[in-house]
Amino acid sequence: MNESFVKVETRGRVGLLTLDRPQVLNALSNEVIDQLYDAIQAFEGDDNIGAMVLTGSSKAFAAGADISAMAGWSYMDVYKADYLGGKWEDLRRTRKPIIAAVAGYALGGGCELAMQCDFIIAAENARFGQPEIKLGVIPGYGGTQRLPRAVGKAKAMDLVLTGRMMDVHEAERAGLVARIVPVERLLDEALEAAATIASMSLPAVMMAKECVNRSFEATLDESLLFERRNFHALFATEDQKEGMQAFVEKRQPDFKHR
Ligand code: HXC
Repeated sequence: MNESFVKVETRGRVGLLTLDRPQVLNALSNEVIDQLYDAIQAFEGDDNIGAMVLTGSSKAFAAGADISAMAGWSYMDVYKADYLGGKWEDLRRTRKPIIAAVAGYALGGGCELAMQCDFIIAAENARFGQPEIKLGVIPGYGGTQRLPRAVGKAKAMDLVLTGRMMDVHEAERAGLVARIVPVERLLDEALEAAATIASMSLPAVMMAKECVNRSFEATLDESLLFERRNFHALFATEDQKEGMQAFVEKRQPDFKHR
């Protein structure tokens, strides 16, 4: 049987994915990503799941792509296999929200994986960086693109060109991290945030995610229209009727996710 590198659990309507490769600080191999992708796909198809949390250990979210695996690869190896394409790339097409709960190191591919999630809740001991330059390469999994979008050009250049790490407070000030919590509170805080999201109307949540992501990809004109049309579309859901009626009747809504 293949070794399992991703622990998969559910907590109510929340899917919890834990990277579990402690000997190498959760270094990301093709196998790890295959397992993560398959687990996420299962949650995507599960009507009882409304949001996900992706986490690692208290020492490392993930210390990067697996350097030992990559060390001997040639240009032809990585080009022909389209390394970091395939399931690595397909992870970003996940439609339900995923929160990255980051403690310890989130470096290289680990930082990139966290940034591919919808937002990051980080523990006091979290450290972020794109140290690929020190290995004679560059970020290859979105780091040169998502980091400047999150923290601006100056800090992204600083991190990508020097390979230095930033602590959680710098990361939060820069806009990479949504919330900072004590290490021991990390998982509970992320699960509570995910449970809150999962209690909302799922189609509204999915459209909200699509609209926010669209803001990075289209002109303001296009993305405002995209937002408005999605807003209109939600008036076709039962949950819009229920949500607004519940407000008028001063009670909690009972969303059916349709
Ligand atoms: C493979 C790794 C690894 C990695 C750590 N390990 N990071 N193995 N790939 N990315 C292994 C170490 O070799 C070691 O194995 C064990 O994990 C524990 O690591 P230590 O170095 O002993 O721990 P520590 O002294 O606490 O230092 C932690 C660290 C350091 C600062 C995070 O491990 C480190 O610098 N790691 C590399 C970080 C990095 O360069 N990441 C970017 C990778 S490139 P043994 O067998 O000795 O116990 C990348 C490309 C991105 O991500 C593009 C695609 C995703």
